[in-house]
Amino acid sequence: MIKVGLIGYGYWGPNLARNFAETEGVCLAAIADAHPDRRAAAARRHPGVTTCDDAADLIAREELDAVVIATPIETHYAFARAAIERGKHVLVEKPLASSKAHAEALGALAHARDVRLMVDHTFVYNGAVRRIRALIDSGDLGELLYLDSVRVNLGLLQQHANVIWDLATHDLSIMDYLIDVRPVAVSADGTAAAGFDHENVAYVTVHFDNGFLAHFHVNWLAPVKIRRMLLGGRQRMLVYDDTDPSEKVRVYDKGVDVDMRNGETRRQILVSYRTGDMYAPTFDRQEALALVAREFADSIRQRRPPLTGAAAGIRVVALLEAAERSLRARGQRIEL
Ligand SMILES: NC(=O)c1ccc[n+]([C@@H]2O[C@H](COP(=O)([O-])OP(=O)(O)OC[C@H]3O[C@@H](n4cnc5c(N)ncnc54)[C@H](O)[C@@H]3O)[C@@H](O)[C@H]2O)c1
Repeated sequence: MIKVGLIGYGYWGPNLARNFAETEGVCLAAIADAHPDRRAAAARRHPGVTTCDDAADLIAREELDAVVIATPIETHYAFARAAIERGKHVLVEKPLASSKAHAEALGALAHARDVRLMVDHTFVYNGAVRRIRALIDSGDLGELLYLDSVRVNLGLLQQHANVIWDLATHDLSIMDYLIDVRPVAVSADGTAAAGFDHENVAYVTVHFDNGFLAHFHVNWLAPVKIRRMLLGGRQRMLVYDDTDPSEKVRVYDKGVDVDMRNGETRRQILVSYRTGDMYAPTFDRQEALALVAREFADSIRQRRPPLTGAAAGIRVVALLEAAERSLRARGQRIEL
């Protein structure tokens, strides 16, 4: 049995607690939250689990093999560091840390102490996203041309983070999982509209050397909830709409061919667009967090790096940090 302690039982923590409680070979043993209301909610939902108010007390518990951290971003580094130093395996909520330097320090420390460090890039464990990866691998889409993502809704403002660190983390982690080529630069624009302390509307562009381009629109002030990603390939293009209950992934047999064989002048280039059928592939509908919990447990048991380990966490934080620097420099392109 892997004994797990959870720090943070706010909005997301209960989902982690539920999934760890249901994972085979795992025992959810303790939950820490600074708020009495949240501790009471945890005790009601998970009778028998020890609750405490202090994260340090939980981390110090000898009987725990692993610690799961679901507190606000700015606390991730200190809690993860303390847990790793005590020899615990650690799962940190996204993003891994609030700076690349901190993310790298956690990765190095986990390596030195030979414990597993994993980040909850939830969407990497989502059936639709994994199906898209399989479509890319099978060559169905052909050469990848661009990724265009919109993740907007009204609300859930974070007190200490802007909308990029909160929402774009999801899309950047999806991009990190789907696109093997590594980006070279990031630019970002945004505004703290309506007198907010942090940017709540933002546009992030990620640049690649090979011409592939990725763009992310994140917004906490949108009247409707949109979670839509376009992935353009030369052979086929797809739309991933996470809010669509039945056809989240649609693959369009549409593409473009540019034929230069007849000559080099612009007039002679033959551009042909193909328009064919659309199909909606099936995929595994299991809750992503169940797979997150299982992957964390399996990586501990098998003493191997988890799918979303320190390296993926560091790459995503590096993109977030570059986007933040670009925001402060009026959209200047920041090389990675
Ligand atoms: N993977 C996902 O889809 C997803 C979704 C939402 C949030 N998250 C991540 O989960 C983390 C938490 O976000 P949230 O929305 O649940 O935040 P939240 O504010 O709702 O909950 C955080 C909880 O941590 C507790 N807490 C804070 N500091 C503490 C401390 N020092 N000691 C003990 N308890 C403390 C708070 O009392 C609160 O109950 C963030 O990193 C966020 O990015 C991930």
